[in-house]
Amino acid sequence: MEKTFIMIKADGVKRGLIGEVISRIERKGYRINKAKLFKPKRELVEEHYIEHREREFFKGLVDYIADEDVMAMEVEGEDAIEVMRLLIGDKDPKVAGPGTIRGDFSSSLSQNIVHGSDSKESAERELHLWFKE
Ligand code: TYD
Ligand code: MG
Repeated sequence: MEKTFIMIKADGVKRGLIGEVISRIERKGYRINKAKLFKPKRELVEEHYIEHREREFFKGLVDYIADEDVMAMEVEGEDAIEVMRLLIGDKDPKVAGPGTIRGDFSSSLSQNIVHGSDSKESAERELHLWFKE
């Protein structure tokens, strides 16, 4: 069994989609091991998105999540990393297929409801970062 880090981002929480997202994860057969709803500090969000720190969208990306309610989760199941990415869908609304979370609920490249780790290394790093101690 594999573990991955999933976050319902600020727009997902504000739009009342926590139940919808969790329900899709559970119906697919995956387990929510840990969950916390809180307002992450700016430094945590910057560290989370460190790979994008040189990109022009970085500040906007951090502004949209920092100090806003998000739901951070550890999700477990068979090939959880890849399957959750499939369930979430592409960040580009022109590519995200109907039936995926982003495909069904997001028309924005920047605000797209959910984050899911993209590799084993990212999942380990992100779970440690968001659930330390
Ligand atoms: P990325 O890691 O490329 O996508 P994903 O969330 O699918 O792993 O980008 C991280 C987030 O950065 C993405 O969800 C939304 C934001 N973003 C923008 O706002 N503009 C952009 O041009 C890109 C590529 C990403
Ligand atoms: Mg990513």
